Amino acid sequence: MELTLKELEAACQSCRNCPLGKTRTNLVFGVGVPDAKVMFVGEGPGAQEDAQGKPFVGQSGQLLDKYLAVIDLDRSKNIYIGNMVKCRPPQNRDPKPEETEACLPWLRKQVKCLRPKIIVCLGRIAAQRLISPDFRVTRQHGQFIEKGGILFMGTFHPAALLRNPAQKADALSDFQALRDKLEALGIK
Ligand code: URA
Repeated sequence: MELTLKELEAACQSCRNCPLGKTRTNLVFGVGVPDAKVMFVGEGPGAQEDAQGKPFVGQSGQLLDKYLAVIDLDRSKNIYIGNMVKCRPPQNRDPKPEETEACLPWLRKQVKCLRPKIIVCLGRIAAQRLISPDFRVTRQHGQFIEKGGILFMGTFHPAALLRNPAQKADALSDFQALRDKLEALGIK
């Protein structure tokens, strides 16, 4: 039997597959619409996300929403946003590989439920796990790679863009490439 996203989230509340479940405030499972054709995957919740239980609600989330708006995407209308790990790593450190692996079954279940046509990896952690271990965002951003019937694309993490605004033009062209791909696939 396949669970709905809501049922999956409820089941994930009690997950203790890794130690992050003990230190988090709120589970950050994901937000968006259940018929999303595009899924965005970040790294893991930060302080604000942990406090609110929603992904990308801090400064980097506000920047992400701006890029999404340029190409008519909106978390309340036509996409889904999640993270590699659903619980905040303390002090905003990178999730450890064993934490990412422990959380991966939840991401797989989300993907199975949503059946997105495109998955956009926000930053190195997601791109190296979901696309290729040697993925280099600065070199391979914006390229679409088909895996198992889903198109994957890696782009800059919005937090990286806040630290390094010189990369914003490249990020914008990645979002425009995403819009072009959606149009080519007849998705709107
Ligand atoms: N950074 C991420 O990777 N995910 C979030 O949800 C917030 C910040």
